[in-house]
Parts: sequence; C-alpha cells; structure tokens
Amino acid sequence: MRLAILGCGTVGSEVVRLLHEQSADLAARIGAPLEIAGIAVRRLGRDRGDLPVAPELFTTDAVGLVKSEDVDVVVEVVGGIEPARGWLVDALRAGKSVVTANKALLAEDGAALHDAAADGGADLYYEAAVAGAIPLLRPLRESLHGDRINRVTGIVNGTTNFILSAMDATGAGFAEALEEATELGYAEADPTADVEGFDAAAKAAILASLAFHTRVGAADVHREGITEVTAADVASAKAMGCTIKLLCIAARGADATGRESVSVRVHPAMIPLGHPLASVGDAYNAVFVEAEAAGPLMFYGRGAGGAATASAVLGDVVAVCRNRLAGVRAPSESAYADLAVRPMGEALTRYHVSLDVADKPGVLAAVAGVFARHDVSIATVRQVPAGAEPAGRGADAVLVIVTHTAPDAALAATVEELRGLDAVRSIASVLRVEGGE
Ligand code: NDP
Ligand code: HSE
Repeated sequence: MRLAILGCGTVGSEVVRLLHEQSADLAARIGAPLEIAGIAVRRLGRDRGDLPVAPELFTTDAVGLVKSEDVDVVVEVVGGIEPARGWLVDALRAGKSVVTANKALLAEDGAALHDAAADGGADLYYEAAVAGAIPLLRPLRESLHGDRINRVTGIVNGTTNFILSAMDATGAGFAEALEEATELGYAEADPTADVEGFDAAAKAAILASLAFHTRVGAADVHREGITEVTAADVASAKAMGCTIKLLCIAARGADATGRESVSVRVHPAMIPLGHPLASVGDAYNAVFVEAEAAGPLMFYGRGAGGAATASAVLGDVVAVCRNRLAGVRAPSESAYADLAVRPMGEALTRYHVSLDVADKPGVLAAVAGVFARHDVSIATVRQVPAGAEPAGRGADAVLVIVTHTAPDAALAATVEELRGLDAVRSIASVLRVEGGE
C-alpha cells in the first residue's frame, strides 16, 4: 500500500515517525506493507529533526504526488480549504482512499469531498478531524447506526478548555489565561480560530452531520467564543456550584412548526459541577452522546497534539488499506434524514443573568415582569449587596437570576428589555446554563 503524505508539520511528522516505528505491526494488521511514496511540504529546506525518512521523498509538488499512478492512499495533514480541497477531490475521483484531519475543509465543504468519494468509489476517513485521538467519529458513523442519537454535547477545543480551566483554578482573567496558554504552547500565535470558536464550530458541524444523518456545515452553526468571559462570570458560576466551558451542542428537536429539526451551536455555558463534562480540565476534550437505546455515552481523551492526532490518522490508514485489499469501501456518507437546521433563536437553553440594581421596593417586581412578558419562567433569584456599600434602601445590589428552559430568542429579548429598564443600572453578565434541568 503506497501512501502520499501531504504535510509534515505537528501531525504529519508524527504520522511519518509512527509509520516507521510500527511498520511491522501495521503490515501485519493490514496484510500488506505500507510504503511512503512521497511527502509534500511547503518548504523543502525546513529542519525536520531526525525524521526516519529518506530526504528524497520530500517534494513541493503535492499535485504531482496526488496524481501519481502508484499511490493508493492520500493522507492530508496540511489543513485549510485550498489547495487541500482540490488535492482531495482529485484523489477521491481517481479512486484513491483519503485520510484527512482537516476539520476546516470538512465543515466548509464536506459535500465536495463526499460527492467525489462516491464518484470515485473511494474511502474518505477523518477520525482525527474531531477531538484528536478520541475514537469518536467511528462510533458515531458505525457503532451507533442502529440507534437514534438525540443530543451531542462536547468540549472539543483543547486551547479554550485550558484557558477556562486556568481561569476557574486561579481566578485569572481571559487575557492572563490566554498568555499562559500561549507560553505553554497550547494556544497558537494567532489564537483566533480557537478563542473565537471557529475550530469548535467546524467540529460541531462534523459531529452533527454524523449524529443526525444530515449535511451540516460551518455556516449552519451558531458560534460564540470565550473572549467575553470574565473573571466575574467564573466567580458567579462558582457561587452557583457551576463551572464555565466552551460547549458544542447538537440537539434534535422540533422547529416552530413542530417539524423535526436540529440545532447546532458553540458558546460558553455554565454547567453544574456534577455534569459529566465539568471535570474535563486542562487541554483535554470530551464528548457526551445521548442515544435513545444506548443511553448516555462519554468519550474522553487528548483532542490535540502530534502523536495523539497521528494515532487517529493511522487508525484510519489501517482501515482504508484493509478495505482496499478486500476490494470494498466503507458505506458512503449518510445524509438521508436531511433535517432542517433551526435558527439559534429556536434553540432551547437557560440563562444566568446578573443585574446591578437599586435595592428598593418594586425593583424585583419590575424585573420579574420583563421575564413574564417574554414567557420566560424564572428558576432561582438571589440578591446580594453590591461591593462594600451597606445593604438597604437605594443602595446597589446584584440580582442573580437563573431561568428555566426557554427559546434563546425569548431569553435574548428579555435581556434586551432589561437593559432599558429604569430599575436596572447595568447588566453585569449574561451566560447560558446547560445541564441540570
Ligand atoms: P502544521 O502547520 O504543523 O503543518 C502543516 C504542514 O503542511 C507543514 O508540513 C507544511 O509544510 C505543509 N504545507 C502547508 N502548506 C502547504 C502547501 N501549499 N503544499 C504542501 N505542503 C504544505 O499543521 P498541523 O500538523 O498542526 O495540522 C495539520 C492538520 O491537522 C490541520 O488540518 C489541523 O486542523 C489538523 N489537526 C491538528 C491537530 C494538532 O494538534 N496540531 C489536532 C487535530 C487536527 P512545511 O513543513 O514545509 O511548512
Ligand atoms: N486548536 C485545536 C484545539 C487543535 O485547541 O483543540 C485540535 O483541533
């Protein structure tokens, strides 16, 4: 089995190293030896340490390598939309199996890849694209195909989980925790894709597509990052016995007309400390799947890192090679359900709202009236004196309100009206709450 490897960076170099170190075992498991036909990179002169591979295998001609007649499997660990999309579409149409870790491309234009795989009768595997080393897509794609998945809730971005865990542990603000994540090598020099939620949104789209047999793209995912999460939000969460996580949530439900649909979103949320995802710390990932017959299932492990991600890539390489030798291909993309994606306004969630108010008669009634007007039911109310001022008539107080579940649009409209209320001096924080109801 001849492999074209596209990319030899953090993940690619570990793929190459493991292919060398485990060549005998891999050959035995597949039933044929694996050979590297070539490795496409951007810079031929880059120092690649002591990689156990002949220098003449490196090339900058990715197109030529992909088109090469003697390549069976294309492993893409470059990333980005183009030129990766062109390479992979060409490879699949030519009947070559593809293994990729490229979540950005799968979420942006998975359809182009799946269609090309169907045209070419080729395998398209991408276990490493979501949650790195964690075997997750294969269970969704195969093991759970006899069941009905209702909801997937995950922590799928290690960088933001490291930052939020640090904020929770030390009381640090976002900027300080990001600095620590950068110093320790968790956050990239440009952390935008992670902290603004783009990376998690791409993974959410891939998970939702597999869980609900429906094509969901990055543009269908409601996305909010963690840059606005403050130390005060974290303290507020702690006071409620909660912690804040950047969650990806994909859930089945009915739309406004009662038709079955899905909602897919990524945003920070408070979760109770007893929630299965609350104890997932540092840069770890975890995904909680709720299936009709199987019940709750938890997947946990390293979501990033060269060797961890290479493990998932190599698992796919073994699978596609076995398929080729057996003359079969894995089942095509399953998108038969074709469910509509609900707008964020129709997603059901809960809000935690902290309001700075004057501590005087009628304020609580006025605030409660706003919630009632939007048909939002209040679950708990807590009032604490603000700062060092003595509590009492006219002094500042903080009202902390947690709602029951309601459509996001109703909750957002409630907050908007609260902003204009005379009794409300300012809105200190608004966070969604997940789990526990
Ligand atoms: P890196 O930036 O470390 O490596 C990218 C590689 O691609 C480099 O070897 C680079 O060449 C090569 N490359 C870039 N542009 C071209 C081009 N035009 N032609 C040929 N080669 C090119 O990326 P990672 O290894 O971190 O990520 C690879 C993929 O894996 C991405 O899709 C990423 O999202 C995904 N992934 C990464 C994880 C991680 O922990 N890093 C985890 C899960 C998924 P050169 O070496 O010469 O610069
Ligand atoms: N930047 C990603 C993370 C890498 O922090 O989880 C894995 O996709």
